Amino acid sequence: MGHPLVLVCLAFLSTAVIDSEKRQHRVQHGPCSYTFILPEVEHCLPSKDFQVTNSLQRDSPPSPDQDPARGERMVESLEAATENNTRWLQKLESYIQENVRSGMEEMKRSTVHTHTAAMLEIGTNLLSQSAEQTRKLTNVETQVLNQTSRVEIQLLEYSLVTNRLEKHILQQNQEISRLNDKNSFLEQRFSALETRHVKELQGIQREKRQLQELLERQSRLVTLLQGSSSLNSTLLQRQQAVLTGTVQQLLAMVTHCNDISTQPKVESVIFMDCAEIFRSGVTESGVYDIRPPNSTHAVKVFCDMQTRGGGWTVIQHRRDGAVDFHRDWRDYKMGFGDPSGEYWVGNDVIHLITTSKEYTLHVQLKDAEGNEATSYYDHFYIDAEDKNYSLHSRGFSGTAGRTSSLSHPGTMFSTKDRDNDRCSCKCAQMASGGWWFEACGPSNLNGIYYAGVSNVVRYNGIKWYYWKGPGLITTMSTMMVRPVDF
Ligand SMILES: *[C@@H]1O[C@H](CO)[C@@H](O)[C@H](O)[C@H]1NC(C)=O
Ligand SMILES: *[C@@H]1O[C@H](CO)[C@@H](O)[C@H](O)[C@H]1NC(C)=O
Ligand SMILES: *[C@@H]1O[C@H](CO)[C@@H](O)[C@H](O)[C@H]1NC(C)=O
Ligand SMILES: *[C@@H]1O[C@H](CO)[C@@H](O)[C@H](O)[C@H]1NC(C)=O
Ligand SMILES: *[C@@H]1O[C@H](CO)[C@@H](O)[C@H](O)[C@H]1NC(C)=O
Repeated sequence: MGHPLVLVCLAFLSTAVIDSEKRQHRVQHGPCSYTFILPEVEHCLPSKDFQVTNSLQRDSPPSPDQDPARGERMVESLEAATENNTRWLQKLESYIQENVRSGMEEMKRSTVHTHTAAMLEIGTNLLSQSAEQTRKLTNVETQVLNQTSRVEIQLLEYSLVTNRLEKHILQQNQEISRLNDKNSFLEQRFSALETRHVKELQGIQREKRQLQELLERQSRLVTLLQGSSSLNSTLLQRQQAVLTGTVQQLLAMVTHCNDISTQPKVESVIFMDCAEIFRSGVTESGVYDIRPPNSTHAVKVFCDMQTRGGGWTVIQHRRDGAVDFHRDWRDYKMGFGDPSGEYWVGNDVIHLITTSKEYTLHVQLKDAEGNEATSYYDHFYIDAEDKNYSLHSRGFSGTAGRTSSLSHPGTMFSTKDRDNDRCSCKCAQMASGGWWFEACGPSNLNGIYYAGVSNVVRYNGIKWYYWKGPGLITTMSTMMVRPVDF
């Protein structure tokens, strides 16, 4: 160790040895020198029982030729010296012990230093490790914060969407309640109408009963009159004729009343065409529901119940130009216009009706001067859409020309968007409307409606060539069909 031991140089002087003959022993140890003065050995007689012990002993037995007093002094001085020595030794010991203790402390301190250094090193390591951990933790925290903010943004978006949906639902609810209000209003109106209808029906039935009573009274009167044959027979006959006429009128009225009271029933029965409606007893022209054969839904058509015995189903009608006839394939397929005015019933309906059994076609025309003409075909039908509604007609007659103005059998239907004619041009666009154009053919009842008298030849007008040539201005046209066996 770097701590130099402070050594005290001690000189042991044997107090008992004063004379110069006493020998001095010097021991050099480092910077210290130890001087021992040993008692004279030549004055001491060797004795057999001389031994070196730690115990206080006489160095030599008293020789007989020596002074006993002097020997005793020597012993005393020796004892004192020994005591001194012992004391020194003790001091030395304590000193050494002290030194050793301080050394130990030093050692301990240095150990502590080493430990401290090691601890410092470990501490530094720990610090750097914890710094690393802290860095990682911070990273994780940022990531978590990022995630959290993203989730928060999403939540915000969701809540926005939810708000919008709620608003929407609120609007829907308002709409529903509004509709409910409207619905209840309509229901009230409907029930009012119903009660009115029932009342009307009751009135009509009452009228019918009254008429029946009247009829009975009249017939009784007739029999009475017939009974009194002695009266003026000519007068009687005339009266009878008048009465019979009245009775017939009354009967017709009663039938009419019956028709009125059973009209709802008539409506619920669906007829195939106007001929069936006519046969059921309805003789008034007007708009009726029919259901063509193989068709799932009813169609409104105009029934002509007067012309040539009635029962005609009108498939085309022009009279004032109110409806645009320059339409596409789909419109001509499904039909368009208003059955109570101008309309085209629809190619599908025409096909279904005219192929269910044999049909005749009646074409009725009127020009600007009011002249009327008709064309009549004994047989008429058109194919289905997969054959482009090809036309088939035969057995022509009538006043609108000596030759048929309809195209040849097998001519396909064309519209502005489906060109099936035999012309390199597009007849449906040149002549306008949908028709059985050949190239482009002598007729087109679906052309443009021109009102009034005019000398201008128009190729895209309503045309029926063999009646009046290309310049005909037609102010009315009707196409209608009826079963051959009507
Ligand atoms: C013992 O030592 C002391 C000094 O420390 C000295 O005065 C004394 O005379 C010595 N005694 C003997 C017997 O040498
Ligand atoms: C946080 O998220 C954004 C995208 O929302 C991304 O661009 C960015 O890199 C992210 N930051 C961290 C530290 O992950
Ligand atoms: C019968 O009626 C005719 C015509 O009204 C009349 O001229 C004639 O006098 C009448 N005869 C009798 C007997 O009333
Ligand atoms: C109606 O349907 C039947 C069976 O599908 C068929 O035989 C008949 O020709 C159809 N009639 C018309 C007019 O299409
Ligand atoms: C019907 O017309 C279309 C074009 O408009 C054509 O492609 C098709 O071949 C025609 N069908 C027949 C059976 O000719």
